Amino acid sequence: MATAVPTDFTNQVVFTEETATFSPEVIEEMRSHLTKYPEERKRSALIPLLFVIQRERGYIDNPGVNFLADFLDLEVTDVWETATFYSMFNLRPVGRHHLQICKTLSCKIMGEPEITEHVCNRLGIHPGETTADGKFTVSLVECLGSCGTAPMMQNGFDYYEDLTVEKVDKILDSLK
Ligand code: FES
Repeated sequence: MATAVPTDFTNQVVFTEETATFSPEVIEEMRSHLTKYPEERKRSALIPLLFVIQRERGYIDNPGVNFLADFLDLEVTDVWETATFYSMFNLRPVGRHHLQICKTLSCKIMGEPEITEHVCNRLGIHPGETTADGKFTVSLVECLGSCGTAPMMQNGFDYYEDLTVEKVDKILDSLK
């Protein structure tokens, strides 16, 4: 058994033999995703099932990955390959509000550095960190597909677009 120490927000894989367990309702939900794909292509359900794991366990952890590998007849590394590729999957616990600020070209030239600095100053953290009260995590991510309304950030499944410092203040004030 090997243990890796996290070096940044997306670089944490802690290997264990433990496998997660879920309620019958959640298992049923997972099975319902399988029905959308041919039996021989059930690995296509990997991304929706990773969302279920993240919702149920708070983030993508090794026991959850072990479960999915068994559930989909995949290697553990197959699951990690996908989980570590997409920034929408969290590899360690995040705050109640996970502010993902796009740092790619359109957002960058439209003011992302100022937005990031303002968000981080207000929260007293750096990108990749979580506030001491566990309320906010800030991370910088690649293009979120909303380049026409740059700069933008995502919180959960919500997009905040055409950001300005004033708009960010209102957003942060509104988040409980
Ligand atoms: S560059 Fe920021 S959403 Fe595409």
